[in-house]
Amino acid sequence: MISVIFDTLKESALRIDSLLKSTSAQYLQSTNTSGDMQLEVDVLADKLLQESLLMLPCVKGICSEEQADIVYSSHTQAPYMIAYDPLDGSSLIDSNLSIGSIFGIYNHSLEAKNLIASAYIIYGPKLEMLIAQEQPLHYRYNGQTWHNLGALQLKTKGKINAPGGTQKHWEGKHKAMIESLFAQGYRLRYSGGMVPDLHQILIKGGGLFSYPATSDAPTGKLRKLFEVFPFAFIYEKAGGYATNGTQRLLELEVAHLHDSTPCFFGSEYEIKLVKEVYE
Ligand code: AHG
Repeated sequence: MISVIFDTLKESALRIDSLLKSTSAQYLQSTNTSGDMQLEVDVLADKLLQESLLMLPCVKGICSEEQADIVYSSHTQAPYMIAYDPLDGSSLIDSNLSIGSIFGIYNHSLEAKNLIASAYIIYGPKLEMLIAQEQPLHYRYNGQTWHNLGALQLKTKGKINAPGGTQKHWEGKHKAMIESLFAQGYRLRYSGGMVPDLHQILIKGGGLFSYPATSDAPTGKLRKLFEVFPFAFIYEKAGGYATNGTQRLLELEVAHLHDSTPCFFGSEYEIKLVKEVYE
């Protein structure tokens, strides 16, 4: 039954990709619940996903990063709730960098322990997707069909360091940890888009993506339901790890739909280092 959701996401990916090419990158006067300025295309992508997903008989409701509350379908007995960020990193559109859409599929209620599948779409030079249930499967659209490129697997140690957040607001121990990775030969790879930045680490086989607590954002920036939990699920299925420094991300509770959390995603070696620094 869940496969109809994946089919809908694949279809939506094509439609959003077209929207990105045809819609202006103009900001609207509105902001979303997290206070981010909205682009016209943010709103259009959100509407498209909401309408497509709520039509599915297996979907009970959706919750979008662009909206304050859950929207329920008429299928009150349906099993799945879907939380999504329709266009993550849309502030990068004007620079023509890759951006993405992120989805978490939950059984009955929006809690990390009920997350049963995750997916993301990456709009770049190629249109690609990753869908994770038991394995994180990588797909590419070739103009006619989606090709399954196989499962992604992280090595135990990588070479990429993707450090998020404003450096002048980092804690001393975080700064020291990031510098220690560079001193070990890690290379900086950070675009400011969570989807391409985390996708790159998966594709290259390892590394660290961090978005820590900072003095200006004590609970980090990235949202649990729309960004953090889906990627934590994907990284764990790829043989990697996802922590807030002291706790596994997929064990965190959600008090409010738009809660954010500090987060670290990576392979075994880097996450071990994060835990040593933060615990
Ligand atoms: P937005 O959707 O407002 O462009 O935010 C993008 C998110 C996420 O994709 C990325 O990892 C993070 O914000 C980058 O934030 P910083 O610029 O603060 O590092």
